[in-house]
Amino acid sequence: MLLSTLFPLVSTIPLSLAYLHLPLGRRAHASRSLLSKRQDLPIPITQNTNGQEYIINITIGTPPQDLSVTLDTGSSDLWVPATSSQPCKSGKCDFGSFDPSKSSTYDIVNQGGFNISYVGPGDYDAGNWVQESVTVGGSPIINNTIIGVALQGADNHGVMGIGFDTDEAQPNPAQNGTYPSVLDHMQSQGIIDRKAYSLYLNEPNATQGQICFGCVDTTKYTGNLVALPLQLSPPDENGNMPQTPNAFYVTLTSVVFTDSTGVTTRLSPDDYAQSAVLDSGTSETLLSNDVFAAFANGVGAVNTGSETYTVPCSYSNSNATVTYQFGGSDGPSIVVPLSEMIGGQTVNHFSAKSGGCDLGVAGPIDGQVILGDTFLRSAYVVYDISNYQVAIAQAVGGKASTSSIVQVPVGTTIPGVSSTATASGTQLSGYAATGAPDVPSASVSGNTVLAGTPSFSLGAAATSSGAVATGAGSTSNIAMATTAPQAVILGAGLMAGALLL
Ligand SMILES: *[C@@H]1O[C@H](CO)[C@@H](O)[C@H](O)[C@H]1NC(C)=O
Ligand SMILES: *[C@@H]1O[C@H](CO)[C@@H](O)[C@H](O)[C@H]1NC(C)=O
Ligand SMILES: *[C@@H]1O[C@H](CO)[C@@H](O)[C@H](O)[C@H]1NC(C)=O
Ligand SMILES: *[C@@H]1O[C@H](CO)[C@@H](O)[C@H](O)[C@H]1NC(C)=O
Ligand SMILES: *[C@@H]1O[C@H](CO)[C@@H](O)[C@H](O)[C@H]1NC(C)=O
Ligand SMILES: *[C@@H]1O[C@H](CO)[C@@H](O)[C@H](O)[C@H]1NC(C)=O
Repeated sequence: MLLSTLFPLVSTIPLSLAYLHLPLGRRAHASRSLLSKRQDLPIPITQNTNGQEYIINITIGTPPQDLSVTLDTGSSDLWVPATSSQPCKSGKCDFGSFDPSKSSTYDIVNQGGFNISYVGPGDYDAGNWVQESVTVGGSPIINNTIIGVALQGADNHGVMGIGFDTDEAQPNPAQNGTYPSVLDHMQSQGIIDRKAYSLYLNEPNATQGQICFGCVDTTKYTGNLVALPLQLSPPDENGNMPQTPNAFYVTLTSVVFTDSTGVTTRLSPDDYAQSAVLDSGTSETLLSNDVFAAFANGVGAVNTGSETYTVPCSYSNSNATVTYQFGGSDGPSIVVPLSEMIGGQTVNHFSAKSGGCDLGVAGPIDGQVILGDTFLRSAYVVYDISNYQVAIAQAVGGKASTSSIVQVPVGTTIPGVSSTATASGTQLSGYAATGAPDVPSASVSGNTVLAGTPSFSLGAAATSSGAVATGAGSTSNIAMATTAPQAVILGAGLMAGALLL
């Protein structure tokens, strides 16, 4: 682990009000995380020094044992690693682990039946389904909550999935496959009035974000919140369409690049209406191949491994932006600075040198368009499970220490929402779902990677030699001409493809 940026619990729980406003810690994790849960498909995890996880403090058991878990809008189960599991025994569980032998309320309800897969072949976490007492960020005790306790698996930390209960891992102890999730319990115990929460990841250099269970914090965004009805998920592995939304798919209707001179280029085709899932458990943003190729080629990114693209680290100083619009031409837009899509230096498996930085955007994986953390840090999103909708506005960065909380009441109204943008979207299918984006592979010369030629103007700041993004190492060999674009030499940085954990 590189960092330990955990933050003090600054909020107290106002028991008289039905909401829970909590700080969200952030820490670097050694691997890129892709936590969009599949029903059955296993998952590849690529090693990436820039992977970030948004974590929340919980307790499990009696007396309570403290753990931090990744907060994931893309899955729906809470699970924690057992202290006796292999990763924890080898000292890797630095988010904490759970020791069942020390809890008086531990109750196995399905021995060996827990097995959750995220993205990638061979990746799963498996163990027992149990009933336990849980608290979330200092909440009242939630008794008899079904959770997974992993005895073996790929991940050395747990996950709190805060998606739809109808998207829970299968099989599970419920007869109908849907057991009451932590959010269901929070609602039935009156901790929140509605299954709705707002998530503020904050800007990349911030050390703290926030989640507001059952509430909206009006200091965290600018402009009005606009509601978007949720779209249906893709068919399951048996080809069955879900009857109601069971994940946070919204309709992305345009993607526009604004270069450093203010010139705009539309990256998406006309009449674009792409279903894209808002997933805090995925660190990157995965766009459809056509949109991603237009973006990647415009900035001169090169493919340096499976779904890994590299750009000069100096792009972290560019003032170019990407604008995502949702729900149609009258819908809300979220502006994401290019500088906030540039990750840490690409891991170099071939020499001691390092240089090029990871682009936090790629093509679809398993046919899914995912708006992950490189999008979500720029947005304030209210996730309303009870009404199959989200509301979205441009986030204001650096507001971790302010708050103005409005409770989300019973019913359908989201405080602060002015309108609804209703365009419907479609999922990728056919070649669009399975093909690869048309982006050149990096050519390698000795230990250096030759980047592509950007066609967008990225500004003087993006060309200054010696500019260093996150991560260590010299970048002094990175240079780029704006007026006469030319091939850029990225100081040796080839990803060795997918690394399975
Ligand atoms: C989690 O708990 C630890 C230990 O008490 C604390 O230092 C940290 O600030 C907490 N983090 C969050 C996000 O609440
Ligand atoms: C969990 O599921 C994965 C993928 O479906 C499978 O490969 C693995 O063997 C299962 N593990 C256990 C312990 O059941
Ligand atoms: C949870 O269990 C504890 C201990 O049995 C009990 O005191 C408490 O009232 C229970 N909470 C709820 C909400 O039922
Ligand atoms: C499944 O059963 C549980 C009770 O075990 C119930 O609360 C839930 O509403 C049911 N869900 C569906 C989708 O039928
Ligand atoms: C984070 O970055 C923004 C601009 O990108 C800057 O305005 C702000 O001061 C930075 N905050 C911290 C805590 O460094
Ligand atoms: C980018 O910064 C330059 C000055 O460095 C300024 O002239 C230009 O207007 C800025 N572009 C945008 C899109 O803000």
